[in-house]
Amino acid sequence: MLLDYDFKLRAEKSGLYVRRENSQIFESRTFNQPELGQALPLYDLNNNQIRSTFNIGERFYAYAKFDYRYSDGAKGSVFVIRERSPFAELTRRLLPVLSILLIGVLIIANWLLYRWITRSVVKPLNLLRSSAERIKEGNLQFQLDLNSKDEVGQLNEAFESMRQRLQESVNLRLQDEENRMELISNISHDLRTPLTTIKGYIEGIRDGVANTPEKMETYVNIIYTKAVNMDKLVDELFLYSKLDLNQVPFEFEKVDIVKFLDDCIDEMRYDWEGQGIAIDWDNPASEAITVSVDLEKLKRAVVNIMDNALKYMNKDHKRMAVSILAEPEWVTAEFKDNGMGISEEALPYIFDRFYRAEPSRNSSTGGSGLGLAIARQIVEEHGGTIWAESVPGAGTSLFIRLKRMTSEGAHDHDDTDPHH
Ligand SMILES: Nc1ncnc2c1ncn2[C@@H]1O[C@H](COP(=O)(O)OP(=O)(O)O)[C@@H](O)[C@H]1O
Ligand SMILES: [Mg+2]
Repeated sequence: MLLDYDFKLRAEKSGLYVRRENSQIFESRTFNQPELGQALPLYDLNNNQIRSTFNIGERFYAYAKFDYRYSDGAKGSVFVIRERSPFAELTRRLLPVLSILLIGVLIIANWLLYRWITRSVVKPLNLLRSSAERIKEGNLQFQLDLNSKDEVGQLNEAFESMRQRLQESVNLRLQDEENRMELISNISHDLRTPLTTIKGYIEGIRDGVANTPEKMETYVNIIYTKAVNMDKLVDELFLYSKLDLNQVPFEFEKVDIVKFLDDCIDEMRYDWEGQGIAIDWDNPASEAITVSVDLEKLKRAVVNIMDNALKYMNKDHKRMAVSILAEPEWVTAEFKDNGMGISEEALPYIFDRFYRAEPSRNSSTGGSGLGLAIARQIVEEHGGTIWAESVPGAGTSLFIRLKRMTSEGAHDHDDTDPHH
């Protein structure tokens, strides 16, 4: 019967061992281990420790035992023994140590993770939040720099660029506001001056100061001139502000720029030659130079430029020259006078609205300082550029450069791609 059990146990790599007093009465053949008898524990009827392990040399065994007494009183023990791999044994012995170690590592890892999260996530997020609050209160004058490269760093970067954008737009708005205030004060000033004059002369008439028909005529003429100037000023202001607000529709058409300038000069020639000024028009009539132009507007720009040439002329021998330079992509018109010129300091500003170089010296000529500002707006709306070169005392050249239309005519005026 023992053999029978033993056979069943063998399938589990285990075996039986039965002991009576100190001699073995059954030993499984599973182990083939002569020292097994010495290694097994002594008899203990209380069966205190019924499971344990032992080793013989390098081999580990686990056993379960049961002690009992034979009917004749002899001490008997039965063992079920199973060989275990040294690794399993080692694990069994090291398990408590390992568990403690594991828990320790877990706690430390947890703590490190907590610290890392607070440092790299919670703190920056707190900073971001307080910055967002500052922005909400309208304070944009700070810089946020967390110097981290991870997602929080990216968030910070996005936040920072948002702040910069906001600040830019706020600055832009303030600038706009300032411009508007300046515009209003300029307009009121420029309208008040002729109005004051008109009022003065009308008072003169009313109080009987203009007591001769000649005086009367002088007064009325002055009033008329001032009213005409005011009308012109209001007109320019209106045009300028509409251009500024992009409220003027531009109607572009294919135009030969040579023909266009020819017409402009023809119209002005009468006026100019009446004042003894010849216009040299260098007409390169060999080929048509096609550009996309709003005729009425571009003419306004040319008239403004020519008006200035006439106005700021200070030589006895007055000369005006208009010429054209054609390049494959561009065509440039030059308007050259031999007037008083523009000082180097004033040159960068002449296209600004209300800017007048030496306003006191120019006051006799009148003017709003809007002529070139309007010309610039018109030329830029054509996708072109306008600039000036001047030798103070000798004369000024104004240039308008426009993009030529390709022969196919497939050119769109506001196409900014220069290779098109
Ligand atoms: N051809 C020119 N010669 C000398 N100065 C010029 C000439 N064109 C423009 N300027 C200067 O540029 C300023 C701005 O010109 P503009 O905008 O037409 O204003 P305005 O003619 O009403 O003064 C002028 O006040 C003048 O000082
Ligand atoms: Mg002018």
